[in-house]
Amino acid sequence: MNETASFGYRDVDATEKQGMVRAVFSNVASKYDLMNDAMSVGAHRLWKDQFVARVKPRRDEAILDMAGGTGDIAFRLAKHGAQVTVSDINPEMLAVGVDRARKKGLEGLVWSQQNAEELSFPDRSFDAYTIAFGIRNVTHIDKALREAHRVLKYGGRFFCLEFSTTTWPGFADVYDAYSHRLVPKLGKLLADDEDSYRYLIESIRRFPPMPEFERMIRAAGFVQTKVEPILGGMVAIHSGWKI
Ligand SMILES: C[S@@+](CC[C@H](N)C(=O)[O-])C[C@H]1O[C@@H](n2cnc3c(N)ncnc32)[C@H](O)[C@@H]1O
Repeated sequence: MNETASFGYRDVDATEKQGMVRAVFSNVASKYDLMNDAMSVGAHRLWKDQFVARVKPRRDEAILDMAGGTGDIAFRLAKHGAQVTVSDINPEMLAVGVDRARKKGLEGLVWSQQNAEELSFPDRSFDAYTIAFGIRNVTHIDKALREAHRVLKYGGRFFCLEFSTTTWPGFADVYDAYSHRLVPKLGKLLADDEDSYRYLIESIRRFPPMPEFERMIRAAGFVQTKVEPILGGMVAIHSGWKI
């Protein structure tokens, strides 16, 4: 049997997933930022602020923002004077990001189309690697984590912001009902695209729970790994070091 990968609640041939994910983000690119605000009622901005505060970007250090999409994390990192490379597999998402950076007058960011599983950067290129709401879309998460480890310098830091599973009992039920029933409807209303938003919600449910993902990060070679749950784990910040 061929290798399979999850695409939302469906299992598809692993070779097909990347193209299907690409189609999702090509469809949503122009409405991506609007939908993030609508779906999270603006909360994604606070999670991203908290995430970048954990990264503690320093002036002139080299940071790779992987699956950087339309640039939300990269813009925050660049404000601290870091040299940021924004990478994403999807040219439409990157194009929105380039346009946003121009409108904000942010110069000096490097935009580079890359697959997280096979980066073209040399070994030990970056001081820090960030990936926000990106890794659950990657077909082989273990490969992407190994690549993160490879491109980091010794002493480099890995940070991942991702949806997870909240352990707050009452909140879990409300969130589950909201995300499954309302988010696809919001996608239909604001972006005329119910299916892409259904995928985005379903992919959250298929993502490994926090302890399992932490084990995967360690298996890629990172040490001193940590997980910081937000809202009981609805969202989590994972981190680790390459030594
Ligand atoms: C939910 S968006 C997150 C964008 C941005 N980091 C943010 O927080 O707003 C997920 C991004 O992952 C990208 N992506 C999916 N698979 C990828 C892969 N294999 N390699 C690199 N980027 C990928 C998508 O193109 C999309 O831009």
